[in-house]
Amino acid sequence: MIFPFISLVLFYAALAAATPLKRLSHLLSNRGTSQQDFLVTSLPGLSENIAEADVPLMFAGQLELYAENNTHYFFWKFSEPRKTPESANRTIFWLNGGPGCSSMDGALMESGPFRIDDNYKVVANSGSWHKKGDIVFVDQPSGTGFSYSEKYDAELDQVEAHFLRFLQKYFELFPEDAENEIVLAGESYAGQYIPYIGRGVLLRNQNVPEGEKPYKLKGLVIGNGWISPNDQALSYVPFAVQAGLTATDKPSWKPILHQHMKCQELVAAANTDDTFGTNSVVDKECEKILNVLLYQTLDPNAAKNDQCINMYDYTLRDSYPSCGMNWPPGLANVNPFLHQDEVMSNLNLINKVEWNECSGAVGTHLKARHSRPSIMLFPDLLAQVEILLFHGNRDIICNYIGAEDMIKKLRWGGLTGFSSDIEPLLWFHAGEEAGYVKSDRNLTFINIFNASHMVPFDRPEVSAALIDILNKRYDVVDGKLNTKNLSAQTSTSDSETTNSTASDYSADSDADESTTNSRIVRLIQLAVVIIIVWGICAIYSTYRSKPTSIIKTKASGRKKNVQWADLIPSEEEQPKGFFSKALSKLSRSDNPYAPVANEDIELGTAPPHDEFIIASDDETEEPSGKHTENK
Ligand SMILES: *[C@@H]1O[C@H](CO)[C@@H](O)[C@H](O)[C@H]1NC(C)=O
Ligand SMILES: *[C@@H]1O[C@H](CO)[C@@H](O)[C@H](O)[C@H]1NC(C)=O
Repeated sequence: MIFPFISLVLFYAALAAATPLKRLSHLLSNRGTSQQDFLVTSLPGLSENIAEADVPLMFAGQLELYAENNTHYFFWKFSEPRKTPESANRTIFWLNGGPGCSSMDGALMESGPFRIDDNYKVVANSGSWHKKGDIVFVDQPSGTGFSYSEKYDAELDQVEAHFLRFLQKYFELFPEDAENEIVLAGESYAGQYIPYIGRGVLLRNQNVPEGEKPYKLKGLVIGNGWISPNDQALSYVPFAVQAGLTATDKPSWKPILHQHMKCQELVAAANTDDTFGTNSVVDKECEKILNVLLYQTLDPNAAKNDQCINMYDYTLRDSYPSCGMNWPPGLANVNPFLHQDEVMSNLNLINKVEWNECSGAVGTHLKARHSRPSIMLFPDLLAQVEILLFHGNRDIICNYIGAEDMIKKLRWGGLTGFSSDIEPLLWFHAGEEAGYVKSDRNLTFINIFNASHMVPFDRPEVSAALIDILNKRYDVVDGKLNTKNLSAQTSTSDSETTNSTASDYSADSDADESTTNSRIVRLIQLAVVIIIVWGICAIYSTYRSKPTSIIKTKASGRKKNVQWADLIPSEEEQPKGFFSKALSKLSRSDNPYAPVANEDIELGTAPPHDEFIIASDDETEEPSGKHTENK
């Protein structure tokens, strides 16, 4: 009698449970493969400091690229909940430089929607780029920031290939964005990464993998980029003279000029020889120009923190030999913010790698000895996409004079340099002078006034308008190029906005994604079903006097449901993404002052966990082989 009844109940239970079980097993076995796993819904300060309507829709986490060597790239995506027609259908990828500096610099001090306050909480940045399109900050190459792998990249074509893999995985995760316009943006040493990745995207578009679509690459946007090492190393002296940092009648002049000439000879010799075109051309002699400049312009009588020029902003000063490595000030808050366990959980980290602003190990591996400097990719790129170069005019390390010199020599679109009849336009943003703009044959060069190496740090609103310039959304009147600020744009197009927020997000998205709420509802349904089944089975078992295997199965199934969090690997079981960290520590103790081949001029700030090394530990000696970072 009871048998048909039980099988009927089990049949309905199985039916009712099928859907939630599928989702549950998906959750358990494939954590890190659905958008839901990457949703960010809370952060310290988010609800207190950001108006609800302004909270961006966010996704973050460590996306698996290669299972075989445990390579995961961390990304953090910000999306405007009220999209305007101008911000819809665009994805901006942002990369910081180094090599080895985390794009969390960009997210939390530059183009992202938040800054971190003294209580290590998020506060709003009024000039965030996510109002111009979705912006995705990616920690790469592997070993940078929250990204990890058992392997490091040594050459730029590896960086390119791995980023292409990231894009593939990213668009598998966000298929609804696959036809968005793509902008590759970033800063400093990303002036090497971005042209390589751009090349990779264009090559892929010529031979799109089966079942995928070409990427709509709109343009490359590079801020204070390290693009042509030869031209840029030879720009330090002209820049220093122009900025009044040295002069022919000053004692600093002779030693600086001497170093400049050494570099010039090497570059001239390399030009005539087939080694030209490798990044190794700029060797220590060229890198040293900046070191000599900073050393020779020291003011030993100044207060300790003011003795050296800040190489990222010559109007500021820093202690020697940091000379800018303690800058920008926001870093002192960003670093502890990203070390909070709560934040790492909020960002869905599956491997809580210790965050460092810049990884010395990444820089030590990525010597790019056999890679051509990215300037050599420009002619081909410019035949197919727009490139926008912007330079904060106070930066020394990747200064605008070097960029202008490099453009003067560059041959693209059948001519060398900008056409002689191209006049710079003065750029006014929201009525205020922002810089000047030169544009010709798909290349735009912008000098931004009163800005450092990290333009969006100093001039957030102005920097966001760069995306408008890329998209030709400006007026030109009487030789002046005018852009509007964000609020002006938003208010004019309010009526056309579309809304989506984290809370309604899943409801909007396709049926494959369930909301947290509906998932909970289904879990409750499942639990009820299990309890009923269990109850019936229990009755049946007392009736039969001994438990059946059905009971055991259900019991263990229930345990799994209740404790599914147990399946997430514990700290000990987790793959040692710390591998990279340990490695970098090792290589450091072996050879603490290993010179980095080229231009790792990144002058970053030295966070408490900083791995960067200043080669001269003797402050009274002229630095040689100082390791700098291009943030
Ligand atoms: C600029 O790029 C477009 C494609 O966006 C291309 O058709 C055009 O030929 C390029 N212009 C030059 C001068 O190469
Ligand atoms: C900003 O730059 C402009 C043009 O170079 C200059 O006239 C002005 O004094 C600068 N403002 C500040 C605050 O430095």
